[in-house]
Amino acid sequence: MSNNTFPVLRMRRLRQSQTLRNMFSETILTKNDFIFPLFAVPGKKIKNEISSMPGIFQLSVDNIVKECEDVYNLGIPAVILFGIPETKDEVGSGAYDEHGIIQNAVREIKKNVPELLVITDVCLCEYTSHGHCGIVRDGKIINDETLELLAKEALSHVQAGADIVAPSDMMDGRVGAIRNILDKNKYTDIPIMAYSAKYSSGFYGPFREAAESTPQFGDRKTYQMNYANSDEALREVELDIAEGADIVMVKPALSYLDIIRRVKDTFNMPLAAYNVSGEYSLIKAAAEKGWIDGEKVMMETLYSIKRAGADVIITYFAKEAVKLL
Ligand code: PBG
Repeated sequence: MSNNTFPVLRMRRLRQSQTLRNMFSETILTKNDFIFPLFAVPGKKIKNEISSMPGIFQLSVDNIVKECEDVYNLGIPAVILFGIPETKDEVGSGAYDEHGIIQNAVREIKKNVPELLVITDVCLCEYTSHGHCGIVRDGKIINDETLELLAKEALSHVQAGADIVAPSDMMDGRVGAIRNILDKNKYTDIPIMAYSAKYSSGFYGPFREAAESTPQFGDRKTYQMNYANSDEALREVELDIAEGADIVMVKPALSYLDIIRRVKDTFNMPLAAYNVSGEYSLIKAAAEKGWIDGEKVMMETLYSIKRAGADVIITYFAKEAVKLL
């Protein structure tokens, strides 16, 4: 620190022009920082806008491919896929069906846009009739039996061509179970992006409309984290690293910028942050009402997530944001 003080030191000197501000910007967003989420539905020529997420759609596989071409041409390096199956059952069979919605979508994307990185969300909640992320018995979510299904699901995504798998279920031991099955099947080079510190959050509301994955009873508090906790997030991340996670994630992002910073400082791991559906909807709604400038608030938000320590951001804003970079 310099000993100079006002009037010798004037902090405003380096803020005087856009050129100076650009030169001394401590944080820089680039196209490479973004992952765009997509919702795949069965059928053809389907493009249903999600009412709580303007500009975001449920897409049939043919339209997903078109959207992926668009995303790729914008310079966004990766998408993350969520699937809404034809039918749901108690054990989420659609999740690990070779001809399931995600498996079909991945094959078509890799066939048509091979350079685009395809990440798949590995979870059961979109595929189970009860909407929970694991097997349910007597009203409880059963951890260890769920691991086998999640591992099967991850393997089937990779066999279809997924480049990275991203378990979002918050069962204990799932990263290890997935690493194990992938390695046994010679997929030793497929990275795992673990939703490590995933909180039980009201900000997922619009996503559950998009993914049709609202739990039919209770909530996810027995597996997702309590938003009052921060040390626990570090323990979750540490465990996922020990089990073989290549990228760890904090989710949601905005109410959890402190967690992003702690995780980055503590582990120095490749870190993703999920700027979730509710965070998107809040900005969109206020902008539609003319209460805020949507583009400005979007950029400020994305910068704040990167500044907090995220290396990559999963965000519904990805397409809009790269157009402004
Ligand atoms: C699946 C999953 C959820 C999200 C990503 N994967 C929802 C949930 O846990 O209820 C939320 C993403 C978002 O809100 O944008 N478990």
